[in-house]
Amino acid sequence: MLRKEHNELLTQTGPGTPGGRLFRSYWIPALLAEELPENECPPVRVKLLSERLLAFRDTGGRYGLIDEFCAHRGVSLWFGRNEENGLRCPYHGWKYDYTGQCIEVPSEPVESGFCSKIKLRGYPLVERGSVLWTYMGPSAKQPPLPEWEFALVPHESSFISKRLQECNWLQAMEGGIDSSHVSFLHRGELTFDPLFKGAKGNQYNLQDARPVFEVVESPGGLYVGARRNAENGQYYWRITQWVMPSFTMIPPRGDHPVHGHFWIPIDDENCWTWSFDYHPTRPLTQDEVQAMRDGKGIHTKYVNGTFRPRANKDNDYLIDRAAQKAGRTFSGVAGIAMQDASLQESMGPIVDRAKENLVSTDNGIIMARHRLLRAIRNLTEMDVLPPGVDIAHQRVRSASLVLPPDQPFKDAGKDALLVRAGVAHSSV
Ligand code: FES
Ligand SMILES: [Fe+2]
Repeated sequence: MLRKEHNELLTQTGPGTPGGRLFRSYWIPALLAEELPENECPPVRVKLLSERLLAFRDTGGRYGLIDEFCAHRGVSLWFGRNEENGLRCPYHGWKYDYTGQCIEVPSEPVESGFCSKIKLRGYPLVERGSVLWTYMGPSAKQPPLPEWEFALVPHESSFISKRLQECNWLQAMEGGIDSSHVSFLHRGELTFDPLFKGAKGNQYNLQDARPVFEVVESPGGLYVGARRNAENGQYYWRITQWVMPSFTMIPPRGDHPVHGHFWIPIDDENCWTWSFDYHPTRPLTQDEVQAMRDGKGIHTKYVNGTFRPRANKDNDYLIDRAAQKAGRTFSGVAGIAMQDASLQESMGPIVDRAKENLVSTDNGIIMARHRLLRAIRNLTEMDVLPPGVDIAHQRVRSASLVLPPDQPFKDAGKDALLVRAGVAHSSV
């Protein structure tokens, strides 16, 4: 359980909050690059960390992420005209460049220099690996661009999607480090999902529903090790990476692409679940890409023209009680993504953690909360750079391994837990 004030510290990320300051220390994913497909295309509304912003791509191909509202009288610039290296408010014609600087106020004499005094909030927006990343903290502290492996592999080796999740970021993220639910909630997918099935490790998962968790601090966050019995007294280890504040990487299965998530607050009651899939040493196959587009694995299908999942809380996630009863799915909801999201959203927009009863398999979650609280305290009281900002903390991989019983996973898996150029991920 978590005291109310700690729950608030961890779940509130708006401007001026300690948790918001933590998130504003990092480059975070803001949009898919395909949302701004060409120069002078329509701008896109983006709400992040409770700030209403607007993303656009100007005549010269520069990306901007600026305050959504015109500095004159507050019109939404989403209605703006994207023309000649700037976005023009359609009400009285004030024009802004990609940094948010006002560059024209047609009603005022140019000599007055009035427009040079007007600037909207603006954040950098940079493409890396089909994602547009932003940094919303003080410019003096802007860190180097992110170096997550999924964003650096060739385009044909990765697939990235995002979906709206209608709950606070933390309860969504906690699902990403809670390896014990896989043996229950997702057991059908281990057998049937084209992006999971066929791996030897699945058998260990299904045969041993009482994993022993060992959670160890890593430079950027945690290694969450889940140990299950394998044959001949050996152990099957699944090691999840959690890197602050909200990156998780699920342990791989066989030669399937490896995948994971970023959970980014939209506001305190909604978040973006970013889902990446990549293979470190080969392009994804056509079948894999098709399966991901079809909502298999950790991806999902959308309500047309949106990033809201087709199965959502308004239609009870299309629950199929017959499939639940027959065991084709454990919860009756289809697909890993919506199995997770349905249960996480069912807790309410911000779960009351004072009412929980945690058990030993929740150790990863407990330690992640402590680490986040410690980082928030160190940042706000002593201005200490939080873990995960350093790009060395980002060059990590998850792994699945079979090890003799006397070998600690952290030592035996040392190399497997780091990015190794040209070497595939360690996977069973
Ligand atoms: S409100 Fe935008 S120019 Fe007047
Ligand atoms: Fe899950």
